[in-house]
Amino acid sequence: MFKVNDNYLKLPGSYLFSTIAKKVKEYKETNPDKDVISLGIGDVTRPLAPAIIESLHKAVDEMAVKETFKGYAPDLGYEFLRSAIVKNDFEARGAKISIDEIFVSDGAKSDSGNIQEIFSSDNKIAVCDPVYPVYVDTNAMAGRTGTYNKETELWTNVIYMPCKAENNFAPEFPVETPDIIYLCFPNNPTGATIPKTELQKWVDYANEVKAVIIYDAAYEAYISEDNVAHTIYECEGARTCAIELRSFSKNAGFTGTRLGYTVVPKDLKDENGTMLNSLWARRHGTKFNGAPYIIQRAGEAVYSEEGKRQTREQIAYYMNNAKIIKERLAKAGYSVSGGVNAPYIWLATPEGMSSWDFFDYLLTNANVVGTPGSGFGPSGEGYFRLTAFGTYENTVEALKRIEKM
Ligand code: MLT
Repeated sequence: MFKVNDNYLKLPGSYLFSTIAKKVKEYKETNPDKDVISLGIGDVTRPLAPAIIESLHKAVDEMAVKETFKGYAPDLGYEFLRSAIVKNDFEARGAKISIDEIFVSDGAKSDSGNIQEIFSSDNKIAVCDPVYPVYVDTNAMAGRTGTYNKETELWTNVIYMPCKAENNFAPEFPVETPDIIYLCFPNNPTGATIPKTELQKWVDYANEVKAVIIYDAAYEAYISEDNVAHTIYECEGARTCAIELRSFSKNAGFTGTRLGYTVVPKDLKDENGTMLNSLWARRHGTKFNGAPYIIQRAGEAVYSEEGKRQTREQIAYYMNNAKIIKERLAKAGYSVSGGVNAPYIWLATPEGMSSWDFFDYLLTNANVVGTPGSGFGPSGEGYFRLTAFGTYENTVEALKRIEKM
């Protein structure tokens, strides 16, 4: 008889956003007359920018013609896209990354879940708490996290770095030395960032203790402050200790279109000199047949002059929502953070309400969906996340309802 991978059985509950979707569906079914506004999952609402659509159409037409038809994409991604990435995301920031260090994929969620496969099963991970649930869950699936303690809601073999109001929602160096450190800035869920000088300290620390940083920069396009790094490779020494995850979902609205990439520098080696770049290339080649040609062409259009201008406008639109949410909640007496370099606003629940109680309260009293902070980890208890990715109209309406509660 076959046996399942029992690491899966150790996972508590279902995936956070699936749980929320289920609750909202049930609520809508029992309250069909209610107009429910979602400021929960970080899904975009602006349509794809015209330059991207134009490029998509052109690529679709190419697929209809024998001479320009494309089959399997190259393992690492088309060179036209990888060179646009290198030029715009790295060279323009003074970071040295070459084309063969870029691995194009179907999005940062898959990459952030899959990247752990190239590390030893006895490596120990360190994560921020609260944290994007994919990092811990995928390490749990791989059997790297020990057992889950229902009381503490922590895994026994994970190093947690609490990010609370006291430390401006920024992690502190852990007491125990980790092998793999997950960092995400601008942060999901708290919306916090750290200055480049602080990020440099993490790079120095990782090089010193010979750990690898998995740096999730999916929200870099939302950075508005000059002292925040857009890529970890702006830091000296990052090429020997960091992998970076990037997404087209939040900067260009590809949540439904799917496109991302991972950077694995060739200088990143384990103690025996094995290049992680070669391992990830091996993994990518074996398990992935490339992001679709038409989508990679759409990705290339993000870097055209028009594409850059149009996506900047979309980001400004969402950041205007962020400002509205933050200012109006603060005025209504909520304690709020985030929303300056990130499309997420992190608020303390009122009157010590638990995160899930506030979720229910908001859903039933304002018909607004948010994300309970405790869903991202125990240090998120007593907090709640709202996204700025809604439409302007829905955002304003949601705030009106919240103010009335
Ligand atoms: C979120 O809401 O945290 C994100 O949209 C989820 C994701 O990017 O996978």
